[in-house]
Amino acid sequence: MPRNPAVVRTVPALRRAVDALRAKKASIALVPTMGALHDGHVSLVRLAKRRAKRVVVSIFVNPTQFAPTEDFGSYPRTWKADVARLAAEDVDLIWHPEVKAMYPEGFATRIVPEGPATAALEDRFRPHFFGGVATVVGKLFTQVRPDVAIFGEKDFQQLRVVSQMAADLDLGVKVIGSKTVRERDGLAMSSRNVYLSPEERRVAPELHRVMKEAAARLRAGEDVATTMATGAAIITKAGFTLDYLEVRHARTLAPVASLQDGPLRMLVAARLGTTRLIDNIAV
Ligand code: PAF
Repeated sequence: MPRNPAVVRTVPALRRAVDALRAKKASIALVPTMGALHDGHVSLVRLAKRRAKRVVVSIFVNPTQFAPTEDFGSYPRTWKADVARLAAEDVDLIWHPEVKAMYPEGFATRIVPEGPATAALEDRFRPHFFGGVATVVGKLFTQVRPDVAIFGEKDFQQLRVVSQMAADLDLGVKVIGSKTVRERDGLAMSSRNVYLSPEERRVAPELHRVMKEAAARLRAGEDVATTMATGAAIITKAGFTLDYLEVRHARTLAPVASLQDGPLRMLVAARLGTTRLIDNIAV
């Protein structure tokens, strides 16, 4: 039987636990999550274990990255199953603060990221999002003081925002991206996939299929504008409401005109019924 990892819920308890993990100068990896863990999260933990001696996983559904109209209240919370998964991966510590431990009465400081956070992708549709993410991840980094932190490439803009923030603020953390884990039919794993109806679940992998096809057309010499317009039409016809399908520079997220402007990343966001899906691939 795997042993449950220690769970801490207050900042002083976290500090003591992290100091103990650091004994003999052991390196620490942090995997920030909002829980509802799936195989994608497990792959982040496994990468963390390869990159550091000790692994801390945070589970915190961060209210400041949700708009009032979004799913903060209904976001899946699967605490017992999450702990069992992390125990099976032999994680050292779970940091599971209450909202008031992260945002105590009178909390009044917020990180406002620019650069990749204002690339007119996710930020165009969720203007509150990256301020909330940068603020909570900034806090997680200063609380845990990890040597490395692992984020999924599935949230590609988020990965770029957090990497930029860690560098700009000299946080001393190496941010590492981990490859997106997909279902057998190509759908990127996400805690929000549980919202999909059976019919929506059948249609959802179309996003990844269309992106793969579009990337092949770009590599074969088709121009960016035509390829994106064709892809957008197929996605819309399949029943999605498309927010964006774009090719951007993989590091700056700046718009690009051709394959020569690379390295390139194709990014998509679209809604199926009430569920919003995002995904991306290298071109
Ligand atoms: O990707 C997520 O799960 C969240 O945005 C993160 C990085 C844990 C911050 O709340």
